[in-house]
Amino acid sequence: MAMNRSSLRIVWIALAMSPWPMTAVAATPANSTSDASFNASTHVFRLDGGDVTYAFGVNTDGALESVYWGARLAPGDPLERPKAKGRAFEIDDTPEEYPGWGGGLLAEPAVKASFPDGNRDLVLQYVSHKINGATIQIVLRDIQRDLFVTLQYSMDADTGILARSAEIANKTNSPVLIEQAAAGEWNLPASSHYSLRYLSGRWGGETQLQSRAIEPGTTVLESRRGTTGHEFAPWFAVAQDTAVTEWDGQVWFGALAWSGSWRITIAQDPLQQVRIVGGFNPFDFEYALAPGQTLASPMFYGGVAQHGFSEVSQLESRFQLAHILPQAPQPRVRPVLYNSWEATTFHVTEQGQEQLADKAASIGVERFVMDDGWFSTRKDDHSGLGDWYPDPTKFPNGLKPLIDHIHGLGMDFGLWVEPEMVNENSDLYRKHPDWIIHFDGRPRTQARSQFVLNMALPEVRQYVLGFLDKLLAENDISFLKWDANRNFAEPGWPQVAPDQQKKLYVDYVEGYYGVLRELRARHPKVEIESCSGGGGRVDLGVMKLTDEVWTSDNTDPFDRLSIQDGFTYAYTPQVMMAWVTDSPNWYNRRSTSVTYRFLSAMQGSLGLGMDLNKWTPEDLETSKALIAEYKQIRSVVQQGMLYRLVSPREGSNFSSTESVAQDGNKAVVFAFLHSEQMQYPTPTVFPRGLRAGTIYAIRALAGSTVESTPESASGDFWMHHGVAFRLEGDYDAAAIELIAR
Ligand code: GLA
Repeated sequence: MAMNRSSLRIVWIALAMSPWPMTAVAATPANSTSDASFNASTHVFRLDGGDVTYAFGVNTDGALESVYWGARLAPGDPLERPKAKGRAFEIDDTPEEYPGWGGGLLAEPAVKASFPDGNRDLVLQYVSHKINGATIQIVLRDIQRDLFVTLQYSMDADTGILARSAEIANKTNSPVLIEQAAAGEWNLPASSHYSLRYLSGRWGGETQLQSRAIEPGTTVLESRRGTTGHEFAPWFAVAQDTAVTEWDGQVWFGALAWSGSWRITIAQDPLQQVRIVGGFNPFDFEYALAPGQTLASPMFYGGVAQHGFSEVSQLESRFQLAHILPQAPQPRVRPVLYNSWEATTFHVTEQGQEQLADKAASIGVERFVMDDGWFSTRKDDHSGLGDWYPDPTKFPNGLKPLIDHIHGLGMDFGLWVEPEMVNENSDLYRKHPDWIIHFDGRPRTQARSQFVLNMALPEVRQYVLGFLDKLLAENDISFLKWDANRNFAEPGWPQVAPDQQKKLYVDYVEGYYGVLRELRARHPKVEIESCSGGGGRVDLGVMKLTDEVWTSDNTDPFDRLSIQDGFTYAYTPQVMMAWVTDSPNWYNRRSTSVTYRFLSAMQGSLGLGMDLNKWTPEDLETSKALIAEYKQIRSVVQQGMLYRLVSPREGSNFSSTESVAQDGNKAVVFAFLHSEQMQYPTPTVFPRGLRAGTIYAIRALAGSTVESTPESASGDFWMHHGVAFRLEGDYDAAAIELIAR
């Protein structure tokens, strides 16, 4: 059934047989359309959405080749059939959509397979396609064997963000070992001027924006840790050239929706073509497919912005709010929460929590979250994980009295859990030492005195779902902070045959997602935060199942400026949890004012984590006023369009961000001074994104000062005349609101 030029034909597959549910495209603005089409004479597929066109075609060898990815083209624009250039055993010059490793491929493959007879040659060719609305499904098959790959492309009408994925099906009569499986390959035209942006990090120093020229060779962004990891975010952005700024120039960007080990490679080949391949991390990877079995890749989302990096963030944020988050297309704004972790660490008591709750409620907190330390024998991090019942010495009558107290104060109640983990010193581990990820007979490495339960095991999933379900059924809990404080080590799964064990990397994550999904189905009102030693599990996969993420354990408001700045390159501010905590900060002993701490945290979803018992009445009054202010502006901050006006990175002494409501009626501008020197005035800030002729009134938020300004002026005035804040000394901050009349 090998396909070549003469035998090319279109086979329409019954929709009912599709392995994917067709993507539901949410309601779109009137001026946004999306479309997918196939031109039978050129063999080119084309997807249009937002300001973007994506095209690929069946080349003269029957392979699927990229044709175009960029600004939206006119409907009749010529997109010619790609001519196969062949594999010259020197350079691969064919930019394929999903190349198998075979036929002399030298570039990064999307899929690599090993057959039981020793054959490892895989050459994929087009077989058939199906178009439904703005979704295209393509079936590829090896030139000889019944190994099939179904590619799925769905274009978003509003943002032009394309969702891609692949499913590999073994329809042979023998098992096949999949050794590498990507979600897709993105190809950029040849150029030596590209520059790459990506996010690197570590515990306490997440999402640091990096930039480097794309040169011959490969940049690898990855996690080998079993979870998303702090080290890199599964996200990339490629600027067309070094002249691209926040506001101008073309940028291609993409994000992988996967919370396990992942890899994205960005390679420039000797012809200066750039290929970006992303999916499961092939390191230590093997997925055995029995006859009839399939392996589905994660989703890879990609888009193009014509107006620099701020447009990248705005498109991503709109897309994530409308299509990714569990409450999409209209996620509710995040409530202001209080979390007890920094105040009490493990030393929680019923009375202590109630005391904190009284104070939290009095200043306007809407959700009270009890963190670690409430369960089993948990006095420190050496015991208790796995045994999820309230510590009877701390909560003699269970959680109900505390929860009732919190409800009585008008707040809802949230709880910290770390469901995938177990301490050696726990009843669960004593009973089921084989439930953890391990190799039989080998040492079991502990981290924070804990092991990782194997979520690929059905009995573990059942246990985890069981105790969470019970906790939520028996207690009126509105929110879970789901933590995971360590990575995999010794990634063995001795309960299955050796050739099945490496499935762990996929099946663990599917197990974790499955529990989250089922829990949400059983308790639809419960909201969940993804936490992993701070921001160690943030990606579009987990964001489909959780409502917010914990950005970093580093709550220092100055460090947070650059962590939050980096975060917003890839993810919507709606999910970016930011707390106000004590000063000096526990992480670095830096001292800052209450207002500075609040304004830093108010750039995301506001939380509080201070020891309220130690706060003076004056500081509590300031907090109350700023929480009230936040409630006025939060929908704009969380769901508006972000403009990073002045960067806090690279030793910047001053930074500023602005959020503009989607309807343009309101804007909020934040400004932060690191250190005043020689009485230089605070730099003037030039807001963006306002409606030129509309009159906006200016209002300084409580405790903020601006130099003398008119009370109101046109959008043009504010954007071009600017706003002069008055910031003094060290770590000063201010914020204003511009409100359309
Ligand atoms: C992790 C989280 C913290 C806190 C502790 C509790 O470090 O990131 O916010 O919940 O665990 O042990």
